[in-house]
Amino acid sequence: MISNAASSFSSAVGFEFAHEPARAKSVSGVKIQAFCEDQHTAAVVDKASQDRCLAKTDVTVRMGGVQAALAFYKKASTPSLIIIESMLEPVAMLADLDRLAEVCDTETKVIVIGHDDDVLLFRELLRRGVSDYVVAPVQVMQILESISAVCIDPETRSKGRVIAFIGGKGGSGSSTVCHNTAFAIASAFKSDVVIADFDLPFGTASLDFNMEPLQGIADALASPERLDQVLLNRLLSPCSDHLALFAAPGALDRTFDLQPASCDTVLLAMRDNLSWVAADVPHLWTAWAKEVVLGADHVVITAAPDLANLRNTKNLIHQLKASGKDRALLLVLNQVGMPKRPEVSVKDFGRAVELEPSIVIDFDAQLFGTAAINAQMIEETSDRSKAADAFRSLANLLTGRSTHRSERRSTLAPVLARFRLTRKRA
Ligand SMILES: Nc1ncnc2c1ncn2[C@@H]1O[C@H](COP(=O)(O)OP(=O)(O)OP(=O)(O)O)[C@@H](O)[C@H]1O
Ligand SMILES: [Mg+2]
Repeated sequence: MISNAASSFSSAVGFEFAHEPARAKSVSGVKIQAFCEDQHTAAVVDKASQDRCLAKTDVTVRMGGVQAALAFYKKASTPSLIIIESMLEPVAMLADLDRLAEVCDTETKVIVIGHDDDVLLFRELLRRGVSDYVVAPVQVMQILESISAVCIDPETRSKGRVIAFIGGKGGSGSSTVCHNTAFAIASAFKSDVVIADFDLPFGTASLDFNMEPLQGIADALASPERLDQVLLNRLLSPCSDHLALFAAPGALDRTFDLQPASCDTVLLAMRDNLSWVAADVPHLWTAWAKEVVLGADHVVITAAPDLANLRNTKNLIHQLKASGKDRALLLVLNQVGMPKRPEVSVKDFGRAVELEPSIVIDFDAQLFGTAAINAQMIEETSDRSKAADAFRSLANLLTGRSTHRSERRSTLAPVLARFRLTRKRA
């Protein structure tokens, strides 16, 4: 009996447990049916199904465990993934799963939720080709990680990382920090980076890099489902070695009401093709802005040392921590030491928001003004300035590297190479 079931499950799902502590990633186009025995497990799986990672899946949660699944699949074909909970002890659980294996399609993957933290049981499930075993009581993040580990082929898993840059207040220098840090990642590490300027009407990325304002990101967001590698190549404006711009129109002839799902799709397409995406998010808290910030792998908050920045930064940090997603969160305190301006001290700011600033950048009207007016990055204006060092440090913190290393070529490497050196710098 066991061996029959083993061959059925094995051919159905392959032989690997999702051992690696995978991060939850977006999964799409997958039908998932869960059969739980415990109300708490059902509630957690249901909550996981509402997470943005599973926004493009079809998840149903039923009670009744293996018996309910057996009855259900007598009349229906099995979906891409079954999540099955069993509260039985190992021998009875395995016998039940054997019966389930007999009705499973060969393509169906199975995640088992059990209540026994037993390594022999793990091995038996592995032998039967179950994709993952999660021990109850389960948590939302565990379920999401297990589903993404099981459903996303490691070869096709999205590879890039999204860094969202947002300001504590309008004008605190978030875009400046975003552009300079992206430039530092591209120049120091030879990693392909795209700056996605989400400030469609007022974005300054094209000004900062001396490019014509383009429809790039507006076109992508208007029909995100069309955004494949070819279209991405067309819409990006390369602006230096390894750095390209997803430029904002910077025009007011129409309004831009972005949809969270469109932003998500566009970011996913970019992540699939690039090592790094620097999302320049305007100082807003709309549904889409929140989605972009909370969904990012890293968030950089740039704040100036005043009370409004302090309050907003504290709130942003609270939102980010409450979202439960595991991500790097860095605070940049910018425009520090403006002459004659009373300020909150760096120490007090860090203490109040319960996050020590990773980077502190002095107010330097001469340097930043010169760079802006010449459409240059700070490193190009003054390579040895403290500010240029700060941006390199931030790039190091974000990439987790400190030495010059080249990274695997992204699929957009040819387009970036083609436009290399085309940018005329002042
Ligand atoms: N450390 C600094 N010293 C002096 N000027 C700075 C500094 N950092 C940024 N600036 C200047 O502050 C201005 C606002 O910067 P920036 O546009 O980056 O802010 P922002 O937070 O993105 O604003 P917005 O809310 O409009 O998106 C720019 O003119 C920029 O050159
Ligand atoms: Mg800005």
